[in-house]
Amino acid sequence: MKEQILSILRQASGYVSGEAICKTLGVSRASVWKAVEKLRQEGYVIESATNRGYRLAHATSRLCLQELLPLLEDCPWKDTVQIVEQVDSTNTRVKALAAQGAPAGTVLIADTQTGGRGRLGRNFSSPSGMGVYLSALLRPSCAPQALMHLTCAVAVAMCDAVEKAVGFRPEIKWTNDLVYRRRKLAGILTELGVEAEIGQVTYAVVGIGINCCQSPEDFPPEIRNKAGSLSMMIERPVNRNQVAAAMIRALERMERTMLTEKAAIMEQYRSDCITIGRQISLVRGEVLRHGQAVGVDADGALLVEFTPGQVETVGSGEVSIQGMYGYL
Ligand code: BTN
Repeated sequence: MKEQILSILRQASGYVSGEAICKTLGVSRASVWKAVEKLRQEGYVIESATNRGYRLAHATSRLCLQELLPLLEDCPWKDTVQIVEQVDSTNTRVKALAAQGAPAGTVLIADTQTGGRGRLGRNFSSPSGMGVYLSALLRPSCAPQALMHLTCAVAVAMCDAVEKAVGFRPEIKWTNDLVYRRRKLAGILTELGVEAEIGQVTYAVVGIGINCCQSPEDFPPEIRNKAGSLSMMIERPVNRNQVAAAMIRALERMERTMLTEKAAIMEQYRSDCITIGRQISLVRGEVLRHGQAVGVDADGALLVEFTPGQVETVGSGEVSIQGMYGYL
């Protein structure tokens, strides 16, 4: 019931009367009061006023530099982090900053995105107050071929970040989804700029969206049984500034090691990846194929036996895992 009350208060623009909450949830005033007290103990600032009801003070869960920067002491990227209330897509905006010469370590975080982008041209739903939508600019000096594993490296870094921030380690669904208990928690979109004439990378923008504070009813019905949030997993509120700080630290570490410690990163990726060893379906254009995922190669491609004994390399396309999970 705590989560339901939180969701009602989050959606409201002002006070919600105790009576309205009781009616919506079909519970007594005393139970509402008890649940509100519990939420307060967990750190939520819930104001109450006679004849008006309850109101969630937005400042509790607001992403803000005031709270974030002290968590980034000693992090070389701390002076190039920005937070905005709303943006079309943090990836699009950071690519524009890259074109204007912004330095490596430029990080943009948004409370909400109006045009959040996912892989394969999909939208990424980015509601306000719920997630961390973050893009970081990298400037590796290498050929694009040396960065084939970049999405995998980001996925491992984000598992590290979630583990650090909230205490459990998500799994990775090849290639770029963080999942836990059959639900998608986060997605990753990496985009490269290449100077064609010299065949060198000019920038890489890595974008990550992590669902932090949603309750099941906060997700649209069509993804409600497939999506999850960090707070649903730990059954406690999640502080988005702490998650964002852990993400930035993990990305900064990844940037330092991604070219020199590729083998170790890919080993960790394989250990986090739940796709390996499963029966999978692969959709490529109009063609649907079934096979057994047997590994992930050094560049992050999935190794699949569509015919027993014959291993093929799958570098793109949509892979679903058969059987075990609702959506995977
Ligand atoms: C996916 O699930 O297909 C990838 C989703 C990536 C979403 C993040 S949110 C921050 C950044 N900005 C975007 O527009 N997309 C990425």
